[in-house]
Amino acid sequence: MSEAHLERDIVLKLGHQSQCFRICEYHKLRNQLHMFEEGFGHTAVELGPHTNKLGPELVLLKGVTASPDVLLGWLATPHMRGMCTRMYSLHPDAHPLQTKEDLLKELLCHPVPSDPVRLQCHPRSLEEYLQDGLPKWSFHPRHFGSVLHCVELDGLYHFALNSKRDSYLYAPPKEALARHAACCRARKKLEEVFTALGMLTQQFGLAIDIGAAPGGWTSFLAERCTRVLAVDPAEMNSAALRKNVTHLRSSLVACKHCE
Ligand SMILES: C[S@@+](CC[C@H](N)C(=O)[O-])C[C@H]1O[C@@H](n2cnc3c(N)ncnc32)[C@H](O)[C@@H]1O
Repeated sequence: MSEAHLERDIVLKLGHQSQCFRICEYHKLRNQLHMFEEGFGHTAVELGPHTNKLGPELVLLKGVTASPDVLLGWLATPHMRGMCTRMYSLHPDAHPLQTKEDLLKELLCHPVPSDPVRLQCHPRSLEEYLQDGLPKWSFHPRHFGSVLHCVELDGLYHFALNSKRDSYLYAPPKEALARHAACCRARKKLEEVFTALGMLTQQFGLAIDIGAAPGGWTSFLAERCTRVLAVDPAEMNSAALRKNVTHLRSSLVACKHCE
């Protein structure tokens, strides 16, 4: 069970709309699936730019009581690793502001923090705007006493000046910022399904992977199955060709005929 923590609204910035959608769906089914520990909030909502091209890219977890360590541990699990690029921690009862000018006015009324502040904003352009508008504040990305999180959610501006301890500081792994190799991306999909179904640590007998190249699924299955038959006319990634893997370099139709 997770350590009880001050209630927060946590905003996750994920790499793609489909990831936001899946996280929210898993959250709805959290009592049946194996994706969340306790303390991950009572609601998960997809938010973001809502354009035809991009769709939402933020997930708002409302009422989170899990500690930063628990949340960071969850983001490092195989199915989540690399999905999240930023995380913001907000006070659930704070009133949002209508415009970024209102946000700046509010911050100008705030006592100037004695230590440098780290800025984390969504969209990123807000960071420059606030740095310029708060000349008396000192900002530093690494040496700081508190973190100012400002996030635009559906046209309203939310902010929280958090102590280091409550700031849910998150450094995304390199793969969150770069494109994965095709093999790793495919593997993660299967990892996610097995996690959701609570089957990640189970062992199985024979698996037949049809259309297996370059081998993301095959490498995942090879760790859990006694034997894997990988059927694909294309070349497999050598990392997937473990001892218990047989690569049948043929198309499924051809296999049927030559039996
Ligand atoms: C998207 S890739 C599969 C990725 C793979 N699941 C992984 O984890 O790396 C689709 C593969 O299906 C193979 N394929 C398409 N038609 C096939 C057929 N009739 N029989 C076997 N493989 C086929 C293609 O050669 C291609 O490598």
